[in-house]
Amino acid sequence: MEIQLWRSILCPYELAVKELVVKFEHIIREHKQNDLYSPIEQVKGRVKSVSSILEKMQRKHIPMERLEEEVEDIAGIRIICQFEEDIDAVASMIRNRTDMTIKSEKNYLKHIKQSGYRSYHLIIYYTVDTLNGPKKLQAEIQIRTMAMNFWATIEHSLQYKYKGDMPLHVTERLSKAADAIISLDHEMSSVRNEIMDAQNSSQMQSNLVRDILNNIENLYKLSNKREVMKIQDEFLRVYKTKDLQQLERFHRQLDIIAEGYRAQAVNYLP
Ligand code: GTP
Ligand code: MG
Repeated sequence: MEIQLWRSILCPYELAVKELVVKFEHIIREHKQNDLYSPIEQVKGRVKSVSSILEKMQRKHIPMERLEEEVEDIAGIRIICQFEEDIDAVASMIRNRTDMTIKSEKNYLKHIKQSGYRSYHLIIYYTVDTLNGPKKLQAEIQIRTMAMNFWATIEHSLQYKYKGDMPLHVTERLSKAADAIISLDHEMSSVRNEIMDAQNSSQMQSNLVRDILNNIENLYKLSNKREVMKIQDEFLRVYKTKDLQQLERFHRQLDIIAEGYRAQAVNYLP
C-alpha cells in the first residue's frame, strides 16, 4: 500500500468523527436549552492513527483488503457521562436514532474485563457523503462515566509504558483502583438525584437570566428608556436574592410587559 492511499482511506472517517461529535454535542445543548439534565457530559472523537491501525492489523492478522470491515474502530467516539445510569440512557438514545444503525454491542459493565476495564461499547454503521457518493462505514462508540474514563486513561498509559508486560504489583494496584472506581460510581449514583436537582436549578437560573436579559434588551428598543432602567434595577435586586422562584415570577411579569409593548407596536403598523 502506498503511503498517500492512507489519506484517502481515512478521509471519510475524519468526516464521520466530526459529524458524530457535532451530533452528540448538540444533544447536550438541546437538553440544556430545555432545562433538562443531559445524560451526556462530554464527547470526544478521534480517527485511529495509521500506526495503531497497522499494529492492530498485525496483531489480529487482518489483510489489507479486509481493513475496513475488520478494524471497527478507525472512527472512535467516546461519550463521557456523570453517572452509571446515564450510560443506558445514552445507549438507548443511539439505538433510537435514524442516522446510525447498530452492528454490535459489548457490555463491559456487566462483564468487567480481566484488567478491570468497564465501559459500554457499540459498533455502529454510519453513512457519510463523499465526492464518490455515500459511503457506509463503521464507528466505535465507547460510553463510560468520568470515573471509568479516569481509570481507563491511566491504565492505558501504563499498558503503553510496559508494552504488554505489566509487573504484577502494578496490575494489582490497578485492580484495586478499579474496585475503588466501582464504589465511587455507586456512591455518586446514590446522591444522583440531589446532584441532578442542584445542576438543574443552576441551568434553569442561567436560562432564566439569559431570557430576562434578552427581554430587557428588546424592551429597550421599543419603550421608554427610563422605564427600562427601572426594570433592570429591579432585575438586579431580584437576581441578588438568589431565589429561583422570584426570578421566575419576574420573568413572567416581564413577559407580560413585553407582550403589551409588542401589541402596541403591532397596532402602530400602517
Ligand atoms: P482492540 O482491543 O481494540 O484490539 O479490539 P477488541 O476487538 O478486543 O475490542 P474491545 O472491545 O476489547 O476493545 C475496544 C477498545 O476498548 C480498545 O481499543 C480500547 O480503547 C478499549 N479497551 C478495551 N479493553 C481495555 C482495557 O483493558 N483497558 C483500557 N484502558 N481500554 C480498553
Ligand atoms: Mg481488546
